[in-house]
Amino acid sequence: MKQITIAIDGYSSCGKSTLAKGLAAKLGYTYIDSGAMYRAVTLYFLRNEIPLKDAKQVDAALESITIRFASANNHTLLNGEDVEEEIRQMPVSNLVSPVSAIPAVRRAMVRLQQAMGKDKGIVMDGRDIGTVVFPTAELKIFLTADPEVRAQRRYDELLTKGVPSSLESVRANLQHRDHIDSTREDSPLRQAEDAIVIDNTYLNEAQQLQKALEIAQAVLKKNNR
Ligand code: DC
Repeated sequence: MKQITIAIDGYSSCGKSTLAKGLAAKLGYTYIDSGAMYRAVTLYFLRNEIPLKDAKQVDAALESITIRFASANNHTLLNGEDVEEEIRQMPVSNLVSPVSAIPAVRRAMVRLQQAMGKDKGIVMDGRDIGTVVFPTAELKIFLTADPEVRAQRRYDELLTKGVPSSLESVRANLQHRDHIDSTREDSPLRQAEDAIVIDNTYLNEAQQLQKALEIAQAVLKKNNR
C-alpha cells in the first residue's frame, strides 16, 4: 500500500497533536510534532540568552542545535537531552511565537521537517505544514475550535500535569500566540486552499479521530487505485 503525507494545521491548543498522534497510531505512521521543534529551539535560546534580534548569534545557535525524537517514547531531544517536559512550561510558551517568527529559525526547522517526511508515511502537525513544509501532501486537515473551549482544554491539561497556571494566563497566552502566528511575515498560519476543515468544538477525541480516519481512508483508497 502506497503511503501518504498527512498535514494537520490550526491555532494553538485546538487538539492537533491528539488528532495527529491518534491518526498516526491507527495508520502505523510516524507522528512528528513540529511545534515541539520550535519549542526546543526556544528553550535553547532561553538557556543561552540568545538575543532574538542578533542574526549572527541566532545563526550560531542554530548551528549548535540538534533536534530528534526518541524512538521509544517520541520525547523531544535537544542535543540528546530529553526536554519534553520543560518545553511545555510557560517560559517556553511565552517566547516560542517570537522565536518561530524568525526566518532563519523557520528555514532550519522546515529543512529538518522535510527530511523527516521524505519517505511519506508521516503525520505532522503545526501551523505551516500544508502550506510550506509539505505543500503537496495528499491530505491536509485544518483544525479549528472555539477559543474559549481551547483555553479551557489547555488549562485542564496543564492542571492534570501539575503545571501551575491560571485560566486567564492560558487564555492570554493563546490569544497572543494566535495573533503572532497568523500575522507574522514568514509563513503565517493560514488554511491551505485544499485543506479539509474540521471544527472540533463539539467533538470529543474519539469522534474527531473517527472523522479524520474516514477522510484519511478515502484519500488512501484514491491514492492506491
Ligand atoms: O503546536 P505548539 O503550540 O506546540 O507550537 C508552539 C509554537 O511554535 C506556536 O506558537 C507557533 C510555532 N509553530 C510554528 O510557527 N510553526 C509550526 N509548524 C509549528 C509551531
